[in-house]
Amino acid sequence: MSDLTNLDNVLLEENESVAVLTINRPKSMNALNSATLIDIGKALDYVKDHSDSIKVLVVTGAGEKAFVAGADISQMHDMNSLEAAELSKLAHESYGKIENLPQFTIAAVNGYCLGGGLELASSCDMRVGSSKAKFGQPEVTLGIVPGFGGTQRLTRLVGRGKAKEMIATGTMIDATEAFRVGILEEIAEPEDLMSTVQKIASTILKNGLIAVSMAKYVIDRAADLPLDTAIDFETQMWAQTFATEDQKEGMAAFLEKRHAKFPNK
Ligand code: CAA
Repeated sequence: MSDLTNLDNVLLEENESVAVLTINRPKSMNALNSATLIDIGKALDYVKDHSDSIKVLVVTGAGEKAFVAGADISQMHDMNSLEAAELSKLAHESYGKIENLPQFTIAAVNGYCLGGGLELASSCDMRVGSSKAKFGQPEVTLGIVPGFGGTQRLTRLVGRGKAKEMIATGTMIDATEAFRVGILEEIAEPEDLMSTVQKIASTILKNGLIAVSMAKYVIDRAADLPLDTAIDFETQMWAQTFATEDQKEGMAAFLEKRHAKFPNK
């Protein structure tokens, strides 16, 4: 069973069905070294194991300046190719865990969101950004390519042309541009960021959460399949929701003109 002891680089706080995972290395702009990636993975194991009580996960960065300013350059400087592959694998394991959580995940992007940070945010189901946040994949300015999923997840978010532009120039874009190109779903003033995210979480929490989880699953699993196969997959998922108590309650509540009280069964 997962536990939260000995996590030095992240914080995990729970409040009324919402857990907040905070990357907590503010002196290094929350840069991701191996230890932090391992801690993220352990915290995600805990979130997955506690899906009875945790229904939405928020990912954010400690301090006022950064969400995550990328992989830790001081650790990477002397690495050889084998060590680089190990670091990338660690990140892929943790980021894959986020994507595969049954719970809905929201990145609350409170500041610099660069390199491995943008790759982390791109692994979440949606992103809400502070109006002061900055986004970029600056790897080529360091002589490397994105290695924590950026060539793939950013491309799936913004399309090939924009992803190639961002990656090849290595320049940062602001929150308004990030919203325009589809990295952000919402922008909030810095002081309103967490309340905006909480409001989205509260809206989700009122819904049938098995259905939310299945919708996330079918979107992610079927997105790259041929359309007819993907549609078949959706039909299977849709039919399965009719085996839940939530479906009976949701439709009964509509017919009885009252709010649904989903049992999440
Ligand atoms: N790794 C290690 N340390 C980092 C870091 C990083 N990615 N980003 C910031 N820091 C450290 C700085 O070295 C500095 O430490 P000291 O106080 O000990 O000198 C501290 O955080 C504060 O940073 P700055 O003084 O640079 O703060 P700033 O406000 O002037 O600039 C910044 C902020 C624009 C984010 C700048 O720090 C920066 O450009 N950081 C690097 C961004 C970057 O290149 N990220 C990509 C990393 S590669 C990657 O992520 C590969 C991948 O595919 C996974």
